[in-house]
Amino acid sequence: MTEIRFEGVTKSFKDVGVIKGIDLKIREGEFFTFVGPSGCGKSTLLNMIAGLESITEGSIYFDDTMVNDLSPKDRDVAMVFQSYALYPHMTVYENIAFPLRMKEIAKSEIDREVKRIAALIGLEEMLNKKPKELSGGQRQRVALGRAIIRRPKVFLMDEPLSNLDARLRVEMRGEIKKLQKGLKITTVYVTHDQSEALSLSDRIAVLHHGEIQQCGIPSDVYMNPSNVFVAGFIGSPSMNFIEAYIRRCEPLEIDCNGILFSVNEYFSPDLLKSGKELLLGIRPEDITVSANKSEGGIEVKVSMIESAGSFNYVDVIWNNVTVKGISKINDDFKAGSRVFIEIPLDKIILFDKKSGIRLGA
Ligand SMILES: Nc1ncnc2c1ncn2[C@@H]1O[C@H](COP(=O)(O)OP(=O)(O)OP(=O)(O)O)[C@@H](O)[C@H]1O
Ligand SMILES: [Mg+2]
Repeated sequence: MTEIRFEGVTKSFKDVGVIKGIDLKIREGEFFTFVGPSGCGKSTLLNMIAGLESITEGSIYFDDTMVNDLSPKDRDVAMVFQSYALYPHMTVYENIAFPLRMKEIAKSEIDREVKRIAALIGLEEMLNKKPKELSGGQRQRVALGRAIIRRPKVFLMDEPLSNLDARLRVEMRGEIKKLQKGLKITTVYVTHDQSEALSLSDRIAVLHHGEIQQCGIPSDVYMNPSNVFVAGFIGSPSMNFIEAYIRRCEPLEIDCNGILFSVNEYFSPDLLKSGKELLLGIRPEDITVSANKSEGGIEVKVSMIESAGSFNYVDVIWNNVTVKGISKINDDFKAGSRVFIEIPLDKIILFDKKSGIRLGA
């Protein structure tokens, strides 16, 4: 098992900085994911690990070995891409066997390994077929099989599921995760899909403009985002951000859209200034929309209702601000109805509006 370490890693194309100083340790056997929007530098980072892209400054280590100047083949990594890049004229068997053929391994051993891998990825019946006879999911499995048959030190995957339809994508997630847990090979995965990152990974790093915004286990990044970018990017539908300001510092009282909230959370006094502008973040699933007024209920107007199967997402207008909450499916209201929302104090997250950083982070 291999640990991957980044020390002050940067990457520029011409003079444009694309990766801006990454310090990070990916642990032995870990399933680690870089997640972020298009163009944030995910593939560039992965290619630097693979040796397909040079490093501008800093170093990457595999355990105690600096790999900056090692060629891709000397790094012992296997990579799976979004496009499966299978050899079209070869059968599934030959595609999976290919990396071993390159290594002059005895035919009988290759045969044993191909069959073992085929069983692992559920393609035993397909070994004599050509890639064009397979579905997208099956092709991606062949690509996975071809990557793992070499037992590389490090497994790299760049959006391997993005060509698959939604159902298959979710199914393959489970398979990749199981496979990785069985093989215990350090795996670096790249995706722009936050739900994929959350469901697959031991840890994730949220990347934006070539910088790590936050790194941690999925539930912690979800529950405790360190800035507005992470809070908005992780979780779907996205967190609500509502403008607010500090009305009083001690005890802390904020004014959000004309309503006063007394905040119990402790913040260092130097973070608090009367009048300071904030964003109040709250996830849609934490706002209940209901036709009945409860204590603390705020009267709003329904603008849109979207079914999510077992419940509804409801957009409401609260003093010109649109807020997304949830309601039960049997709640009896429609667009235009006057309804009530509740904002539970223990679910709100406060951000400094100017810097976007979570208050107290
Ligand atoms: N060879 C190159 N020459 C110049 N600029 C490049 C090159 N490769 C990537 N870039 C730029 O670097 C930035 C990061 O690209 P990268 O491909 O790493 O993004 P990404 O996060 O993988 O995006 P996506 O989700 O769209 O695949 C982009 O702005 C891209 O235009
Ligand atoms: Mg990419």
